[in-house]
Amino acid sequence: MTFAFLSPFYPWIKSFHVISVIAWMAGMFYLPRLYVYHCEVRPGSAESERFKVMERRLLRGIVNPAMVSTWTFGILLVLTPGVIDWSAGWWHVKLASVIAMSAFHGELSRWRRGFLHDRNRHSQRFYRIANEVPTLLMIVIVIMVIARPF
Ligand code: HEM
Repeated sequence: MTFAFLSPFYPWIKSFHVISVIAWMAGMFYLPRLYVYHCEVRPGSAESERFKVMERRLLRGIVNPAMVSTWTFGILLVLTPGVIDWSAGWWHVKLASVIAMSAFHGELSRWRRGFLHDRNRHSQRFYRIANEVPTLLMIVIVIMVIARPF
């Protein structure tokens, strides 16, 4: 199912898709980094309370809205005639990777609640490794959508 009225707006929809992607990725790379440093401070301390404010503002002010707009403009692109060939391998890998990226977003939100209630269960090493996940997914997604290797 596609809508012909979207075709003239294709370049604009794709522009806002990529702008949203950049904002989403900026937050997805920065938030786990805050968790790495948050692990170093004592729960209940002034530093810990400051990290809680930074994490809440980053997640609610940037990461959440940027994910919603990335999906919104991404789906509008899917609904634009001639943009997606559903038999293309690259598209399936991209779609699976963006679903994985969204699931990781959910985990970041869950881990933030752990810090919020001074009940973080993970180590600094855990968050350093977790910090690499959105980077690896982003590399796969961009190669798939631009190079289209299969
Ligand atoms: C969240 C769900 C997403 C959907 C439904 C989606 C869908 C799409 C579609 C249909 C296109 C147009 C392809 C074309 O013009 O032929 C596109 C372009 C693009 N997407 Fe996404 N996308 C999503 C997320 C992402 C993410 C997370 C990234 C990067 C990390 C990304 C990076 C790009 C780039 C760079 C382009 C432009 C490609 C080009 O101009 O050749 N997208 N996306």
